[in-house]
Amino acid sequence: MSRYVVARVADIPPGTRKLVEVKKHPVAVFNINGEFHALFDRCPHQGGSLCSGLVTGLLTAPRPGQVEYSRKGEFIRCPWHGWEFDIRTGKSKCDPGQFYTRAYEAGVASGASAIEGRYAAETLPVVVEDDYVVVEV
Ligand code: FES
Repeated sequence: MSRYVVARVADIPPGTRKLVEVKKHPVAVFNINGEFHALFDRCPHQGGSLCSGLVTGLLTAPRPGQVEYSRKGEFIRCPWHGWEFDIRTGKSKCDPGQFYTRAYEAGVASGASAIEGRYAAETLPVVVEDDYVVVEV
């Protein structure tokens, strides 16, 4: 697994997402309340871009006449036909064992450690003061 710097933390505020390219693959990076998650940006149904879908939550009916809404902002609805996926795992809401898109490890690395080996010159001191979102592919 290799780590790739895909954005500055400030580029993806909580509740938003960003489409990036990692090793020529489209990856949708989501910020759920400060946690970063990354999904392969292709719906397993017919290839819709999940990054351009609607972020939603989980609607359940524990018994007839009772509806509960939870996990707000943790699911993405494909814009083409409405299949929904858990942003944390990439698994579909309707059949998680059969339908899923690939989920990548994502997180935050601080300053120079995030970009070590990529942009740092060997003979000159480099100071990087920002935090970066990194995806492991
Ligand atoms: S392509 Fe995503 S639901 Fe059909």
